[in-house]
Amino acid sequence: MNSAKFAAIIVVIGCFTTACNSSDTLTTNQTQPASSPATAAATATATPDPLAEAYVDFQKNCERCHGEKGQGGPVEIEGRKLKVSSLREGHALNHTDEKFVKQISEGDDEMPAFKDKLSREEINDLVRFIRKELQGK
Ligand code: HEC
Repeated sequence: MNSAKFAAIIVVIGCFTTACNSSDTLTTNQTQPASSPATAAATATATPDPLAEAYVDFQKNCERCHGEKGQGGPVEIEGRKLKVSSLREGHALNHTDEKFVKQISEGDDEMPAFKDKLSREEINDLVRFIRKELQGK
C-alpha cells in the first residue's frame, strides 16, 4: 500500500471516530502514517521459512486425507472411502525421501498426483516437513 492510500484510509478512520468535525484531527492523522507502510514492507520481506510454507501447503493439499497430524486412517472424500497411510509411523518411516517425492508428484492408487500443483521445491519441502514435524527426525 502506498502512503497516500494509507493516509486516505487513516483519514477515513479518523472521520469515523471524530465525525470529521475537527481539522486538527485530520492534520495529526496525516502526519502519522509515514512509518507504518515501511513497517508493513519489512514484515513482508522477512526471511521466508520453507517449513512454515510447507505446513501451509500440507494444510491446503494433504490434511483432508492424511489428517491434521499426518496420522492417516479411514476417510471419506467425495463419497469414496479411502484408507490413508499414516505419515508418522509404519511404512512411512522406512520409505526413502525419493519414494515420498515420487508418491507426492505422481500419486498412487488412491492418492492424487501433485506435480501440476506444487513445484519440485515445494514437494521437497513437504518431505522435509513430514520428516521433521510429523516423524520427529
Ligand atoms: C485424496 C486423498 C489424499 C490426498 C489429498 C493426499 N494423499 Fe497422500 N496418500 C493417500 C493414500 C490413500 C495413500 C496410500 C497409498 C495409496 O493408496 O495411494 C497416500 C500415501 C502417501 C504417502 C506414502 C506414505 C508411505 O507410507 O510411504 C505420502 C508420502 C503421502 N501420501 C504424502 C502426501 C502429501 C504430502 C500430500 C499433500 C501434498 C498428500 N499425500 C495428499 C491419500 C491422499
